[in-house]
Amino acid sequence: MTSTATPADRPGTGPAPVSFPELAADFRWGVATSSYQIEGAVAEDGRTPSIWDTFCRVPGAVVNGENGDIACDHYHRYTEDVDLIAGLGVDTYRFSLAWPRIQPGGRGPANAAGVAFYDRLVDTLLDRGITPWVTLYHWDLPQELEDAGGWPVRDTAYRFADYAELAYDALGDRVVHWTTLNEPWCSAMLGYDMGLHAPGRKNFGDAMHAVHHLLLGHGLAAQRLRARATGPLELGITLNMGHSVPASDSEEDRAAQRRADALGTRVYMDPLVHGRYPADLLEDLAARGVELPVEDGDLEVISTPLDVVGVNYYSSHQFAGTDENGATTDKDGLPVVRGVPFGRPVTAMDWEIVPEGLTSLLLRLHEDYGVPMVITENGAAFDDTAQDDGTVHDADRTAYLVEHIGAVAKARAAGADIRGYFAWSLFDNFEWAYGYDKRFGIVRVDYDTQRRTVKDSGQWYADSIRLTREASS
Ligand code: FCB
Repeated sequence: MTSTATPADRPGTGPAPVSFPELAADFRWGVATSSYQIEGAVAEDGRTPSIWDTFCRVPGAVVNGENGDIACDHYHRYTEDVDLIAGLGVDTYRFSLAWPRIQPGGRGPANAAGVAFYDRLVDTLLDRGITPWVTLYHWDLPQELEDAGGWPVRDTAYRFADYAELAYDALGDRVVHWTTLNEPWCSAMLGYDMGLHAPGRKNFGDAMHAVHHLLLGHGLAAQRLRARATGPLELGITLNMGHSVPASDSEEDRAAQRRADALGTRVYMDPLVHGRYPADLLEDLAARGVELPVEDGDLEVISTPLDVVGVNYYSSHQFAGTDENGATTDKDGLPVVRGVPFGRPVTAMDWEIVPEGLTSLLLRLHEDYGVPMVITENGAAFDDTAQDDGTVHDADRTAYLVEHIGAVAKARAAGADIRGYFAWSLFDNFEWAYGYDKRFGIVRVDYDTQRRTVKDSGQWYADSIRLTREASS
């Protein structure tokens, strides 16, 4: 890695821009957002409520009782926002479509007014030379579909495939890059097992049924898009993953790591790539009285070939198979799987900063699955302090980016097929159950005025992309 001095017009702004020669050629640089986190305008142009609109109204569900009603008001400010994206010098913008805008209520025909917003957004991006990268589902399930049973019921997978087809018919003439789902682990486990995300249910069996139906929905949508495509189509799914290690070499700790890896990574990657669920996971589930609702042909659908796997990386974990008192089973008689901190510095989310875990994860995915990958999210929340003029000297966030992009560069140099990196997030935005309390943006949003200000980390990112590209020319 080479670096240049901090430009004189950015005094005291922390780490200098970095050139990453390993990422110079054939590499995509982007920023990422999602619909509910930034759009606002929740009742405009025919949009109906999603499970997040409902969940935000549940007392105590979201910090300060906040919601996405206004968020970054991106629905009304997208032109200015696309200018900002272009100003950062990225080539790709990853955003998601709100299902209840495209297909209110989750059934029936497309809503022309909702589609028109994404039409305008896509055209504006293309006008500025930015490649749109569309995620079909970043958690805003139409409430009506949750009322009909949500992801634990099979029909939701078919509803998703219909919606995917509507969206593709509307935008597929201009959008090449399609991600079906963002982080099905979060939809299933946070939403249906732990109750921390919408719809706030708490039943492990339901969550595992949700896992299968999310994967089935992905596969059905992938088949529909492949069938519709007349031009180029790059299809993928995005998973949140970390590198997990046992806390010690003991049998219990190794078993705990295996269980965590099965539920966090292999339950998705194995069926997607190899067309089967991991045998050890199925045994563990059976021991808990849970059977995945797999029907004939489902695994062929789920393993419809992918062009890319999106990797969202924030942290890594080590696991112990004993609790603080040395017990190996919990109060329900289940094997203990306990996350044990490495003792590293943490972000404002309390997530440990483990950049080398990203290198290990990418190399492991390369080895076990051999798929092309894009880092569809990586970034950090810190407790920013804004100056009077709105600027933010966020050297901590820049340091996080330096280390993590460096980790990607290492994995690429070691042979992993990595095609791009998207910073999470373009903006400070509605961070789900944390409301507006946690700021992930490389651009600050003042929620009183909706003023956007590029943070030092955003400037660093722009400068580093430019330096890196220069290295290849
Ligand atoms: C990911 C989500 C994204 C954002 C980041 C911090 O799990 O995909 O929407 O909340 O975490």
